[in-house]
Parts: sequence; C-alpha cells; structure tokens
Amino acid sequence: MKLVIILLLCHMLYCVDVDKNTFSNYKDVKTQHLHIEWLLNLNDKVVDGSVEYTLKVFANQLSEVHLDIYKMNILFIYYPSNGQVLKYHVESDPIQKDEQGDKLVIELGQVYKYGEIVKFRIKYQIGEDARALSFMDPSQTDDKKAPYLFSQCEANNCRSMIPLQDTPSIKFTYSATVITQSPLINVFMSGNRLQTQKFELMGNYEMNSIANIFQFELNIKIPAYLIAIVAGTVEERSTGARTAVISESKNIQKYKDELEDLDQYVQYLEDYIGEYKWGSYKIVILPASFPFGGMENPLLTFANPTIIVGDKSGVSVAVHEIAHSWFGNTITCNNWSNMWINEGFCVFLERKGLKTLFKDINLVHVNSQVGNNEMNALIKEFNSSQDDFVKSYASLHPKTENHNADDSFSTIPYERGFQLLYYLEKQINETRFQQLLKAWLQEYEYKSADESDFYRFMILWLKVQLSAEEFTTVKKSIDNVYTKWVYDYGQPPIQETFENPASKDVLQLVNAWIEGKGTKPQNYQIFDGFKSNQKQLFLSSLTEKSKDITEAIMVSLEDAYHLSDLRDAELLFRWYALSINTKYAKDTTNLQKIKAFVGVVGRMKMVNPIYKALNKETATQWYQENYAFYHPLTRQSIESIIKSKTIIE
Ligand code: BES
Ligand code: ZN
Repeated sequence: MKLVIILLLCHMLYCVDVDKNTFSNYKDVKTQHLHIEWLLNLNDKVVDGSVEYTLKVFANQLSEVHLDIYKMNILFIYYPSNGQVLKYHVESDPIQKDEQGDKLVIELGQVYKYGEIVKFRIKYQIGEDARALSFMDPSQTDDKKAPYLFSQCEANNCRSMIPLQDTPSIKFTYSATVITQSPLINVFMSGNRLQTQKFELMGNYEMNSIANIFQFELNIKIPAYLIAIVAGTVEERSTGARTAVISESKNIQKYKDELEDLDQYVQYLEDYIGEYKWGSYKIVILPASFPFGGMENPLLTFANPTIIVGDKSGVSVAVHEIAHSWFGNTITCNNWSNMWINEGFCVFLERKGLKTLFKDINLVHVNSQVGNNEMNALIKEFNSSQDDFVKSYASLHPKTENHNADDSFSTIPYERGFQLLYYLEKQINETRFQQLLKAWLQEYEYKSADESDFYRFMILWLKVQLSAEEFTTVKKSIDNVYTKWVYDYGQPPIQETFENPASKDVLQLVNAWIEGKGTKPQNYQIFDGFKSNQKQLFLSSLTEKSKDITEAIMVSLEDAYHLSDLRDAELLFRWYALSINTKYAKDTTNLQKIKAFVGVVGRMKMVNPIYKALNKETATQWYQENYAFYHPLTRQSIESIIKSKTIIE
C-alpha cells in the first residue's frame, strides 16, 4: 500500500514534470531569447535561416547543448563574439526521425558553469520538408499574385523551422528580421511589428526590384509552439481600437464585417478574467487549407475561412483563440500529456465569454452538449482500441513518448477538461471559482504548469479561503474524483448533461425523426429557427444514433432541410459524414458534393470524419486528387486514416 502511494506521489510530483517529446537538455540549459533572421525565397520554397541563441545554464557544468530539429539542413554553428566555429553532430533514430525528428548535439568547446550565459548562432536552410510550413503557389491563393507561406507550430512542429528547445515548458522572448524578395509580400509574425524598410535587390534577383525587411519583437516569454509567420499578399483592416483582421484582399471586407465585434470579445473575456496584457489582437484568415479552425499565435490568431459563415455563427472560434491569451499563452502546459491545462481551461473561459455574447446560458450549454456527444463517442472509440497509447487518449493524461505529440490530439482535453473545471466550480461557487482562476493566472503568469501544479495550487488556495469545515468537505469532493478524472480511461466520474430548454426541442425533434421512419414530424420546420449550434446538436445527436437512421429518413431530412447545400461547414461536414456512414451518399449526386467539399476545405476536424467514413478506394482516390491542396499536417492525418482501413468493407 505504501509503495503504491509513493509511486502515485512520484507520478504526480515528479514524473509528469518531464517533457518526453523533446530531445533537448532543457533542464540543464534554458533558452532566454532567440533572434531569428529569415530570408524568404518563396518562389523556390526555401528559407535561409540564421538564429542567435541566448541560453542560461542551470547545470553545474555544461559542455553540450542539445536541440530539437526535424528534417533540416544545418550549415554551420559559431560564436558570434569571436567567430569560433563549433562542432556538432546529429543523433538520429530511424523510427523517430519521421515522428519527432532528431537531436542536434552542439559541442560548446568549453565548460560553462551554473548561471552563465551561452550565446551562439546557427545558420541553416529549410524547405518543403519543414512540416510546420505550408508553401503555396500563387495559383493556390485568392489573389493569385504571389506565393504564400504560413506556419503551424503546435504541437512539436516548430523544430522543423527553427532548431530549438521544442518544449512548452521552456519560455523565451524573441525578435526576428524577415527579408522578402518581392515588394508584394507582406509579413506578420506572432509579435509586434517594428519598422519596415525597403531595399533594392542586388545580385541574382530581378534588377531594380524593391523588397522589404520586416522586424518583429515579442517581449513576453512564450514557448516555441507559439512562434508563427504568415507571408503573402495580405493586408490589414482595423476592426476596433486594438483589434484587426488580416487576409488577402479578395474577401477581406467580408471577413472584416463578420469579425467587426472582435474588440468586444476581448472585453467580455477581460471582464471575467482580467486585463489582456499582449497589446493588440489580430486574426489572420488564412487559405482554406489551414488545418485547424483557429490557432492562438500570440497577438496574431490564425484562422480557417470556415469560421466566416455570414451570420457570425463561427465567431466562437475567435472567442476561443482570444481566451488562449490567458490559458495556453500566459499559463502553458508543461508537456503535451497535459494539454488540458491549455485547452480545458480555454474552453471554460471561452464559454464564460459566450455567455455574455449569446446573452443566454442555455445556448452555451448547447455547445457543451455537442462537446459531450463528441467526447463520449471518442471515449468509446479509444476504449475499444488494443493499443495502450490510443486507450490513454481517453484520459486527461495521454501517453505521448516516442510518438508525434499530435497523435494524442482530440476533443478529450477540451471537453473532459472543461467538465472537470465545471465540476470544481460547482463545489465552491461561480464567484469563488473565478477568484481561484485569477489567482492561478497570477501565480503561474508566463510560466508552464501541469495537472499536479494545478491540484496543489487549488488545495492551498482553498485552504486559505475557506473555513476549516468547508475546506474539509470541498477537499473531499475534489479528492474523490481528481485522479480518476485525469488518469482514468473510462468516462469521467461525473458528467453534467447540460440539459436545457434550447436543447430539449432539438433532442425531441431528433427522436421524432427517428420514430417517423422517413415521415416528416409535424413540427419539422422548427429546425429553420434553430441557432447554428442547435443545428450542430441536431446533427451530432443523429450521428450518435446513426444505427437507427435509415435511407428513408436521410432522404426525407434532405428534402426538409436541404442539408447538402448549407453554407455552414460546421453543419456540412457532420451531415456529409453521416450521409456516407448511413450509406445514403453512394453514387448519388451527394457524393459529388462531398467530394467538392473536401477539395476546398482542408480543416482536419472537417475532412477527417469524411475520410474515415469513405471506403479505402474512394478515400485514396480523393486524397490523391487533392494532395496538392492539403497542408502537410492534413496529409499526415488522412494518410493514417487510409492506412488503418481494411480493403474489403
Ligand atoms: N490550439 C488549438 C489548435 C491546435 C491544437 C493545434 C493542438 C495543434 C495542436 C486551437 O486553439 C483550437 O483548439 N482550435 C479549435 C477551435 C476551438 C473553437 C475548439 C479548432 O481548430 O477547431
Ligand atoms: Zn484551443
């Protein structure tokens, strides 16, 4: 028994505090600042990079620095102070190479002591192998005038564009100088843009051509995965005192109209959690191949155009990404097994903001119900796997060692994490929990933390705030569930169902459709009055009951609501996946519409369920046809979906 307790303590106090997805010696030496210099050659899809490192030694003696790299060409490493060239070699494991990359071992040529600063520079080159980067031809852009480049570093992709300590537990400031070779290209990074200089291109470039030098600086410490860049014929339009939208010119007015309330969204979140300390907040609407809905790059959220629906129903993604300014970007998870420290807290804050935005808590609960449906389906799926890793993805502490950390990514850290925080809030009360979250932010501001840090912090805080009697009761109610909630692979110990009037109508309609076996329910037209998230709940509940959905029901649903022709991709992808799964979409025209959809939307959440539903042959064919359109990360995930399919279905 004692041993079990000791092991558990070790697990909670020490073992979780290790990032198993980095090859770097980040406990011995820690990045303080990076200065990045990039020369973009977008026509050839190559970037010449040079990075100056400022590192602080935390070991008694340090003679080597180990950095993470992924498929890049290191040219040379030297001390900028005296020009001394440093020896280096790459340690590579053939299996890990594709998953997580390699270890770059730099010999410092001398021994550094605790507290000393090490500064060196690395010159290197990257190209299309950099899985963080998407290089696009002018023909793939909206404006068709120039090439386009954007990055996606979370989780462990930054190491493919910069050699560094690619772990969320190390935070540093950065500055950057980016040189373009075309006057058309505008550049933004996840920091403040300083002055831009024009210069005349010499040498091999077109004569008399003017290009730009952009400079950036971020003085708030961030982890590697929050470094981001976008370069293309993009422009910026203000949406308020501190917010703006950035995109190519073709659709910028539409994007600006949809996101005109950005300033208010920041305000709603500030009202709950405290000051937004990053300065400005801008959203880049990227090309449709961007693999996520949104990515919280500091000061510069990246987003997929599917969030622009025309009726502002997709803006909750913006609210979510703004919420990361506190949870994720200010307090960051220590390692990728603790992703809920980012995403669970972020969803919790997002839904506080949505409460103000929707002016109706019931509609927020509808989002939580959609989340629950998807979480429960995933827990079942993961639990039925034979693979120990996949099984662990149902918990809030997925196994990630020796794997690409992205493998464990799912909606579990979002919804299981949200549910845990919702439960904790209920154990005290809303106001107290709000105070607790503010105190948590203050304590871990600009630091990284994990589940045991949160537990320890919460208990200490409660002990000070509550009466002895209340504390004993609350602690017991937390201790009864916390470890299970985080580590167990089954359902969370308690699950709030969030039933409410706004969802009751939806769920009744779902049942009426199923009971009707193809006959339209009497009140079927109430669907048209539903908000977008109620429609999502409608489709996700049908999906949950897909065994009961006959072809006759599908035909009738289509006839009633014209679901295949909706404009909202959040609804379309659910309907399309259901259409394939229920065999409604076979050779009918619907399959053509679905094919067209996966050719213009590259957001993984939306294309993955469709590829999962397709048979191997069709999936392979569609994938090959759209290969050039998809982002490297989307390619990776579709390829693994196809690989897991059996040929005879
Ligand atoms: N940080 C995530 C995106 C991410 C997670 C990228 C893990 C790479 C690895 C982002 O904040 C996010 O959660 N985006 C969601 C939208 C949100 C409203 C749930 C998405 O892309 O769908
Ligand atoms: Zn998120």
